[in-house]
Amino acid sequence: MKNSTNYLYEKLRALADSDYYPYHMPGHKRNMKGHPLDALYEIDITEIDGFDNLHEPEGILKESMERAAAFYGSERTYFLVNGSSCGVLSALMACADCGGKVLIGRNAHRSAYHALYLGKMEPVYIMPEIVAEYGFAGGICPKEVGRILEQEEGVKAVFLTSPTYDGMMSDIREIVKVSHSKNIPVIVDEAHGAHLPLFPEYDTAVACGADFVIQSIHKTLPAPTQTALLHVNGSLADIEKTERYLRIFQTSSPSYILMSGMDECFRLLSKDGRELAKRFRKYRSQLDEVAEELSVLHIYGSEKDCRNWKHYGIKDADRGKLVISVKNPLINGKELYDELRMKYHLQMEMSAASYALAMLTIMDAKEGFDRLGEALIEMDRKWEKADFAECSRLSEGWRVPCYNVLNPVRMKAFEAQNAQKEWILLKQSQGRIAAGIVNLYPPGIPLLVPGEEITEDFIEFVNGCLLQDLNVQGIQRMDEALIPVIQGVNHSRV
Ligand SMILES: Cc1ncc(COP(=O)(O)O)c(C=O)c1O
Repeated sequence: MKNSTNYLYEKLRALADSDYYPYHMPGHKRNMKGHPLDALYEIDITEIDGFDNLHEPEGILKESMERAAAFYGSERTYFLVNGSSCGVLSALMACADCGGKVLIGRNAHRSAYHALYLGKMEPVYIMPEIVAEYGFAGGICPKEVGRILEQEEGVKAVFLTSPTYDGMMSDIREIVKVSHSKNIPVIVDEAHGAHLPLFPEYDTAVACGADFVIQSIHKTLPAPTQTALLHVNGSLADIEKTERYLRIFQTSSPSYILMSGMDECFRLLSKDGRELAKRFRKYRSQLDEVAEELSVLHIYGSEKDCRNWKHYGIKDADRGKLVISVKNPLINGKELYDELRMKYHLQMEMSAASYALAMLTIMDAKEGFDRLGEALIEMDRKWEKADFAECSRLSEGWRVPCYNVLNPVRMKAFEAQNAQKEWILLKQSQGRIAAGIVNLYPPGIPLLVPGEEITEDFIEFVNGCLLQDLNVQGIQRMDEALIPVIQGVNHSRV
């Protein structure tokens, strides 16, 4: 078998074309001729001779991960075949397992909450600034991180999400400075920012000195679903423990299709990345021109928006995330999303109460930008003529839902999750202790986490969301709303 290059795909291809007979896993034996997925099965192998081992890399996988590390300027980069989720779990557990205290942005992905549970961690939450007009999270303020770290003894790690799902970036450089002055490692969930090095105007978390950085390359780069990276840098990270947890949270049979997909992603980027980024900029600027023409719709990211960013702790916004908002309650984010999908066959990433989100990457075709621009102008013209006076939501006092309150913590989250729970009427739950996460989806930021006291403000807010027919997860909607609480514990009585 000829090994002409060190790229994984070529080696897999050479094996597929060779006469080596597989007396090993996987069970399909690469013998799937005529099957619709034959091309994938042909290169689907396990750790046989010459193909290295993800959990103890010494050969082709090590080289491949080193190429990815070089692309990001990272000391160490690990391939993840179970998404950013397993990177988040591994990084948090490596820093704070067995009950460690972590300062954690409340807008963390659910995988971070799973780590809190598994590691019986003690979370200290920090609220991102909320961009009130739209109801999405802005940045985490470095001063606030500093203030909390002054107050809290024994914090083992700071965990933040940047960019957010909506593309908003925090000032990671400052946050790292503040945390490192106390020798506390910083974990950045950069799941939505794997493409940032292609755009030198952005700071990447690795360049800012973050100790652990997790990226879903499948989200914003040309790589297969599930593929992600964990970068580990500096002297505060415990490498041995990190690798132990990667072995725990990743399969012992990682897919060579996924790993060669990652390898090919960085081959493509090192060859064509700059050109693709240039093309993206050109197409994306078309949408800036469209934005100028809109009157009812608004694309977040205008000059005026940027001037306000500092109020929301936002350092920068990723131009790959197009937040299309509706200035008037005549239409809401879901209706905008539905119209784009049903009338124009444009499938958005998601909708929230006041906006729809389009994800744009270097792999988007010109057609994608053209069709979206034309649709937005056409919809804007139509809604411009609509009679807003007839809008019932106006008379009902419709407003963008925004809850940026941290509820009192009465019990550790993992204890609350393991306690006996019961479902009771939301309207009668004031003073009870939450047994489950309640969040508005999107954006998915928990409004309440297990162990927190249910307050009057919380009940009022959730009722308002239910009235607006928003998707509140963690609440059961029967005739009346029900919420899970810890059995028999009423904080107002303890
Ligand atoms: C901010 C953030 N972090 C982590 C994840 C988990 O990523 P993955 O799906 O790659 O496991 C997601 C997924 O949506 C996310 O939005």
